[in-house]
Amino acid sequence: MSRPLSAEIERSLARVRRINRRSGVTGALFLADQHIVQVLEGDPGPVLDTVYCVLTDPRLNTLEAIFQEPAEERLFPNCLMFFRDLTDGVDAALNPVLKPLLENTSDLTRTSALEAVEHYSSELLEGRLTNTMLMI
Ligand SMILES: Cc1cc2nc3c(=O)[nH]c(=O)nc-3n(C[C@H](O)[C@H](O)[C@H](O)COP(=O)(O)O)c2cc1C
Repeated sequence: MSRPLSAEIERSLARVRRINRRSGVTGALFLADQHIVQVLEGDPGPVLDTVYCVLTDPRLNTLEAIFQEPAEERLFPNCLMFFRDLTDGVDAALNPVLKPLLENTSDLTRTSALEAVEHYSSELLEGRLTNTMLMI
């Protein structure tokens, strides 16, 4: 990386969100100390194209697929790329379900990964429902 991590993340997220807007891909990205966990969702073609873009990104050493499957609906329908920096451990201390995102990725299962990301997607959904009720 050529710039400080926070600047690199900000710049990359802006770029990624621009690309995802065009491809119709949504998702989330969680930063841990030594790895990133990412959710990508959308039509299979654009999602696979995105995986290829991620794979060929020179800033990445390795990529592990945790799970891939058809879904009834998106977890992050309104997020071109939701982002949380989990490195300070605050969120995980408050919500133990998030701890697997911070631990060794080889121990991350479909169930534990889904439980963790659903924590954030349901928080976002609750916010949307409140906004709808309050008409804001
Ligand atoms: C952790 C990570 C997540 C990424 N997520 C996406 C993504 O959601 N959509 C996408 O099109 N590219 C994604 N990419 C690929 C980069 O956006 C792509 O390589 C881009 O061209 C990098 O541009 P930049 O060097 O200007 O940031 C990702 C790359 C990394 C390392």
